[in-house]
Amino acid sequence: KIVVLDFGSQYNQLITRRIRDMGVYSELKPHTLDAAEIKKMNPKGIIFSGGPNSVYGEGALRVDPEIFNLNIPILGICYGMQLMAYALPGGEVESANNSEYGRADITITSDDAKLFVDTPKEQSVWMSHGDLVTKVPDGFERVATSKNCPISAMQNVEQGFYGIQFHAEVRNTTYGNQILKNFVFGVCQADANWSMDDFIDLQIEDIRAKVGDKKVLLGLSGGVDSSVVGVLLHKAIGDQLTCIFVDHGLLRKDEAKNVMESLSGKFGLNIVMVDASERFLGDLQGVTEPEEKRKIIGRDFIEVFNEEARKLDGIEFLAQGTLYTDVVESGTDTAQTIKSHHNVGGLPEDLQFQLIEPLRSLFKDEARELGEKLGMPSNLVWRQPFPGPGLAIRVLGEVTPEKLEIVRESDAILREEIKKAGLDRDIWQYFTILPGIKSVGVMGDGRTYDYTVAIRAVTSVDGMTADFARIPWDVMQAISVRIVNEVNRVNRIVYDVTSKPPSTVEWE
Ligand code: XMP
Repeated sequence: KIVVLDFGSQYNQLITRRIRDMGVYSELKPHTLDAAEIKKMNPKGIIFSGGPNSVYGEGALRVDPEIFNLNIPILGICYGMQLMAYALPGGEVESANNSEYGRADITITSDDAKLFVDTPKEQSVWMSHGDLVTKVPDGFERVATSKNCPISAMQNVEQGFYGIQFHAEVRNTTYGNQILKNFVFGVCQADANWSMDDFIDLQIEDIRAKVGDKKVLLGLSGGVDSSVVGVLLHKAIGDQLTCIFVDHGLLRKDEAKNVMESLSGKFGLNIVMVDASERFLGDLQGVTEPEEKRKIIGRDFIEVFNEEARKLDGIEFLAQGTLYTDVVESGTDTAQTIKSHHNVGGLPEDLQFQLIEPLRSLFKDEARELGEKLGMPSNLVWRQPFPGPGLAIRVLGEVTPEKLEIVRESDAILREEIKKAGLDRDIWQYFTILPGIKSVGVMGDGRTYDYTVAIRAVTSVDGMTADFARIPWDVMQAISVRIVNEVNRVNRIVYDVTSKPPSTVEWE
């Protein structure tokens, strides 16, 4: 395996991802690990990630100098390279006259540049730095140069130390993957024999070692992440795991039932199902302001969860389906944070648990792959994103049981038709909204004055930006006809053709 030491770059987890994609296990570790701890992990190679600091800055992050004596190859990326030059004798780092951000063209200056095997002499890379290495450490040679960064890459083949000033892990570096490959396979001689199955075994071992004979609590939302964690934990510790699933009455059609049938029935998870829909709907009565709706739902969720958790004895751990992207979004890379919009936002003093987050190093698609490997059904693994506040933010204005029913039924029809058309994996998210407007229509021979249902369907990679999906007209027509015919009090369907930005995916 390849250990990546974390110096705080926003790209650091991408490095591990690229290496895992090559079939070599890689994980991100705090930069504070000392040489003995690293040695125990027995990695084939070590990577120092980039980071926002200057090596001369106050509170600059350092490494244990003994790491350089382990006889393990090291690659320093950006800050990692500067750190290497700073820590090894003879090297010098200075602040650049101009910080450099973005594309740069480098020229390979050595015929024996190990990291650049099978890449052209001139290539473009992605730079993002304020400091520069101005003198390579003793025993190193410069192997690449650019206009603003005379020493863009350096190597000490004998000792196995390499540095690159650019980010090989981002796609804008044209040959970045090849450069990482050259390090992983060429320099470190790692074998490509890792797969998701190994990840499962590794996590199960880890979880067992951490939990021992103690008990673990998990808040299930019915979403991909928490479900995968549930199945994984159950595999590791069986009935030492208890799950709480809060039905707030704002779920989609048959959602609670499906989760129970699959996770409790097929996989045998121990799930406490709490039907709190009356409480949520009661508290939402008369409330129309979107943020207030969200706050009420968030608060009720925590209260219900905590009430249930208190009824359980001897729980010491809380498991969460935090993914790498959640960690990034919450803005901290080393501290453990609780997903703010997730089931458990604030735990009271008397309910303090240790956290278990087995998916913390994974990206969404890796979590899905993990779920498939665990044998989970595809409707769970490929479930589209669903917001915590549920259908409440798709009924604009006051939430009433009647309006919820319209959204729930029309959403179920939409999902059926999208699936039938084979579009369910191409469209990132699709759902219906009840804007609350009524319009005049004609059905049979009579005039109607009923609701308009809006359809939202978007393509996206991460939800941060989105475009409306180009659904074929005949599919649209089938959806429209069915909703109007099968859902009471609806006589008109409209399609939302805005992207994000300027709109958001949800309407509230
Ligand atoms: P917006 O509407 O902000 O949505 O463009 C982007 C993505 O986030 C989901 N979303 C939420 N997810 N809790 C969640 O877990 C929330 O409060 C929430 N609000 C929006 C939304 O469904 C879309 O996928």
